[in-house]
Amino acid sequence: IPEQALDRDCMTLSRHVLQQLHSFGAEAQDLSAIMNRIALAAKLIARRLTRAGLVAGALGFTGEMNVQGESVKKMDVYANDVFISVFKQSGLVCRLASEEMENLYYIPENCPIGRYTLLYDPIDGSSNVDININVGSIFAIRQQEGLDEDGTASDLLQNNGRNQIAAGYVLYGPSTMLVYSIGTGVHAFTLDPSLGEFILSSENIRLPDHGSIYSVNEGNFWQWEEPLRDYIRYVHRHEGYTARYGGALVGDIHRILFQGGVFLYPGTVKKPEGKLRLLYESAPLAYLIEQAGGRASTGTQEILDVVPEALHARSPLIIGSKDDVALVESFIQDRA
Ligand code: AHG
Ligand code: MN
Ligand code: MN
Ligand code: MN
Repeated sequence: IPEQALDRDCMTLSRHVLQQLHSFGAEAQDLSAIMNRIALAAKLIARRLTRAGLVAGALGFTGEMNVQGESVKKMDVYANDVFISVFKQSGLVCRLASEEMENLYYIPENCPIGRYTLLYDPIDGSSNVDININVGSIFAIRQQEGLDEDGTASDLLQNNGRNQIAAGYVLYGPSTMLVYSIGTGVHAFTLDPSLGEFILSSENIRLPDHGSIYSVNEGNFWQWEEPLRDYIRYVHRHEGYTARYGGALVGDIHRILFQGGVFLYPGTVKKPEGKLRLLYESAPLAYLIEQAGGRASTGTQEILDVVPEALHARSPLIIGSKDDVALVESFIQDRA
């Protein structure tokens, strides 16, 4: 095969991380190893999803309720357990914070040498899992501050999203893609199942300052505050907008990353904080979108400046092209 095809197939995720971090020294090795573990988790989850319809017990509900008050899917549990198994063997990650676990999961053999905490949403968009529509996984990596002897992970609740040292997501779609940033731009890798490797497919992804897409669940219109309704009335009345909403945050954000536009999950009158969770949904994606030249806001504050009051704290999310985020904010702030 042509030389450039061979060179392309050699740009694997772990190689790329090392290349990005040449000036980071020891942390580069750690992050490369952690990203490699995330890639392994992604491959294990992708394998299960691809055959889920054929594997007895892979789909459907467990019958349990999680700390979010959601009915848990079997795939949520499987994916959550994959990350635990993969990171137990990592030696580097001491604590796991997951949507599906009420408390932090400590890996004693990795603590306190393991200086890292992994925050993750094992399956994002689980309402799509039984109908073979794309789902994702979302992750963020932080360095542990202090020894956390009392097991309250207070360092996680004293810092904002700028404390993240890496973030990204896996999109389980027609192809399985892993998109990440370690602060040196946003890069996308496509899984080559015949190699079992994530190969670089897009480097330094930048989203346009404006895009035609707005992505929101308009079924919630009747619950929103008036400024959000005014924004939706605006895009309904102006040419040049198109609605896209997939029900899985990762898929909707991936579209915005590549095509521009804005995704919104606003708060409602009854739940001003909205639905999406800060530590393993909004903050990792805000980190990524800012690295790609976009913005992420609660409507009145940058997502990355928000300090969570609790592990599963929620936040309203307006994220995407900076001009589109600013337009939504203008409706909110005119009214404030
Ligand atoms: P999760 O499946 O991890 O609980 O996340 C679901 C989230 C997010 O993926 C998506 O954007 C949003 O829920 C969809 O919520 P609605 O069904 O209320 O639109
Ligand atoms: Mn959920
Ligand atoms: Mn989610
Ligand atoms: Mn989830």
